[in-house]
Amino acid sequence: MNVSANVENGVTHAEPKIVAQKVQVYYGDKHAIKDVDIKIQPRSVTAFIGPSGCGKSTFLRTLNRMNDTIDICRVEGDILIDGENIYDPKVDPVQLRAKVGMVFQKPNPFPKSIYENVAYGPRIHGLTRNKAELDEVVSASLQKAGLWNEVKDRLDGPGTGLSGGQQQRLCIARAIAVSPEVILMDEPCSALDPIATAKVEELIDELRANFTIVIVTHSMQQAARVSQRTAFFHLGNLVEEGATQDIFTNPQDKRTQDYITGRFG
Ligand SMILES: Nc1ncnc2c1ncn2[C@@H]1O[C@H](COP(=O)(O)OP(=O)(O)OP(=O)(O)O)[C@@H](O)[C@H]1O
Ligand SMILES: [Mg+2]
Repeated sequence: MNVSANVENGVTHAEPKIVAQKVQVYYGDKHAIKDVDIKIQPRSVTAFIGPSGCGKSTFLRTLNRMNDTIDICRVEGDILIDGENIYDPKVDPVQLRAKVGMVFQKPNPFPKSIYENVAYGPRIHGLTRNKAELDEVVSASLQKAGLWNEVKDRLDGPGTGLSGGQQQRLCIARAIAVSPEVILMDEPCSALDPIATAKVEELIDELRANFTIVIVTHSMQQAARVSQRTAFFHLGNLVEEGATQDIFTNPQDKRTQDYITGRFG
């Protein structure tokens, strides 16, 4: 673990987990992310907010090179995780995505059993030596995702047979199973009802003890509830980033002010 720290305005910060410098993203000619610089703190939740189309998902995907899978997409600038440039040609994107996991808007369990959904990652990455160890990882991941009690008697049942909120927690268990360090979540609650949303939010709050979490959300209440830091994007620019409470009570930029007071978006 990196224990070095720096001091800013009398507040001690841990070394950032992720540092993005001068990041540009293009889809063909379209300049979707413009010159974004941001530092993301470890073991905390950072929320990305902003109007539809401002680039939240695009920027989130730069953090584990998911944009590599989009043909017309081009990324420039540097993204360092623990000081390592993840766009360096020697970085294997598959390994990177194990370290930087992702949970999507629509729960997307594999068409496999609950057990196999969670076991898949550890198996392809060779993280366990035998069935007993794999069983242990599956149950620990489901427990961390707050789903174990609901599924322990039906591990062989299909993942797609769960409710939407359970499926999303299964996807979180699947992400956790490969022991990632960072979890990216793109509107993970937007397909869930308020009760399932509350469960996932509670889970996010617990997970931040061990993971660095970045969550895209359209709900300012959700950002306020779950995040410690908030970044506001507008037309491909990162307008401002700061402590969530400051962004919501004392934004520095008029565009942030307009957005959080509901004037656009
Ligand atoms: N695969 C793609 N091909 C071409 N353009 C894209 C692609 N994905 C996103 N864009 C464009 O990039 C810009 C940013 O899109 P992005 O999906 O990142 O926005 P967003 O902030 O996540 O929006 P939303 O809140 O609606 O999800 C938009 O103008 C969008 O049309
Ligand atoms: Mg999006």
